[in-house]
Amino acid sequence: MAKEKTHYVCSDCGGTSPKWQGKCPSCNAWNTLIESAPESASPVKNRFASLAKTAEIAVLGDIDAIDMARTPTGHEELDRVLGGGMVEGGVVLIGGDPGIGKSTLLLQALDSLQRSGQSTLYVTGEESGAQVALRARRLGLEGSQVRVLAEIGLEKILATLQATQPDIAVIDSIQTVYSDQLTSAPGSVAQVRECAAHLTRAAKASGVCIVLVGHVTKEGALAGPRVLEHMVDTVLYFEGDTHSSFRLVRAIKNRFGAVNEIGVFAMTEKGLKGVSNPSAIFLSQHAEPVPGSCVMVTLEGTRPMLVEIQALVDSGGPSPRRLSVGLDKDRLAMLLAVLHRHAGVACMDQDVFVNAVGGVRISEPAADLAVLLAITSSLRGKPLPKGFFAFGEVGLAGEVRPAPRGQERLKEAAKLGFSVAVVPKANLPRNLKTKDFEGLTIHAVERVEQAMEVVRNL
Ligand code: TYD
Ligand code: MG
Repeated sequence: MAKEKTHYVCSDCGGTSPKWQGKCPSCNAWNTLIESAPESASPVKNRFASLAKTAEIAVLGDIDAIDMARTPTGHEELDRVLGGGMVEGGVVLIGGDPGIGKSTLLLQALDSLQRSGQSTLYVTGEESGAQVALRARRLGLEGSQVRVLAEIGLEKILATLQATQPDIAVIDSIQTVYSDQLTSAPGSVAQVRECAAHLTRAAKASGVCIVLVGHVTKEGALAGPRVLEHMVDTVLYFEGDTHSSFRLVRAIKNRFGAVNEIGVFAMTEKGLKGVSNPSAIFLSQHAEPVPGSCVMVTLEGTRPMLVEIQALVDSGGPSPRRLSVGLDKDRLAMLLAVLHRHAGVACMDQDVFVNAVGGVRISEPAADLAVLLAITSSLRGKPLPKGFFAFGEVGLAGEVRPAPRGQERLKEAAKLGFSVAVVPKANLPRNLKTKDFEGLTIHAVERVEQAMEVVRNL
């Protein structure tokens, strides 16, 4: 039988075309045709036929809600983001910049899983077996029993999974895997989607837990289609500066645990080590307070962490620049407008740079107040007092809104010896007399201008 030819499907309207064209013949959209696997005419050969025949309807109340058995990886910080460990039949996607430590972490995890009696398989498409062995030696994993397969053909990988039936398999990386069914190159949208779909199906059918490594584009999104994130059960992202030794692994999506949970690691010469008490690692060490620096308490997942926000305001040219690292750029523009309108502080002719220290990315709006205070501190050249911190969301009307779980944040800062706080009024603890807040002076504010006033008088 002749090989079935692939066709091209429009990602907007779903129209098809036998060959690639710049414009979709159905909806006239540009650049939307993507190669996809042929749909065969006979229903038996449908790619998902094997799943379809097992479907049975059950009443929800009759289904036993069995807790998923989790296999701890032996790395506490990784287990934390996974929601307790690997789940049978679960598919985990782990993304991150090149060289950030994806392969390192997964090799370490596989080795400890293997040592605890699980059977593992490490499929590498980027490195040879010898290179993996070299890394293992560097990590101090002598005599590791992890099975390694250097292969990029999807069909061969699936056959190996079928034959060896490992408990946990790592595919490093999904961008290097290719299927014979498609003509496009490995790493293309069509290939990545097709391969991930097949691997996901294999995981669900056989109960093997599969970890896919994904590359990220320059913009920081996972290369390949977003659809990859929908397909898998858990999406983890590596964050952090490759220049600093700290790495964060964040859960973006987790069907088996909490999202936005983060695990903190330090890269050492013997691989990644979990940092169990990370609350103070994102503070830069100043002997004396400096202008343009404000500490905030961020709550990622279940753990509060102190992060230093730095701002530099400097006279700019006719079109001043606004740059932010680790914080949302649009939010910065909005905050500057609020600062001008409600607190009368103008930065119109100034370059404004803000940075979250240590390569941590802060997405929660509770950083707003600290960003504003860091900016005004830099503009005036006046440092905030020693032991100062702030958190709270700032609205367009100039109001300061409460941050979720404010008490926990305050407690964490007090524990680390911070002494002065500016926080939203609604976050003020009812009972300040308890031991948790000892030595802490809390200024509760309702509006931005009030916060500025408090800071000016400190
Ligand atoms: P790697 O795990 O190969 O990253 P990825 O798979 O995400 O591309 O990168 C590891 C980086 O960390 C590499 O730059 C070298 C460094 N490293 C260490 O510092 N210590 C170690 O023990 C190892 C194995 C790597
Ligand atoms: Mg790698």
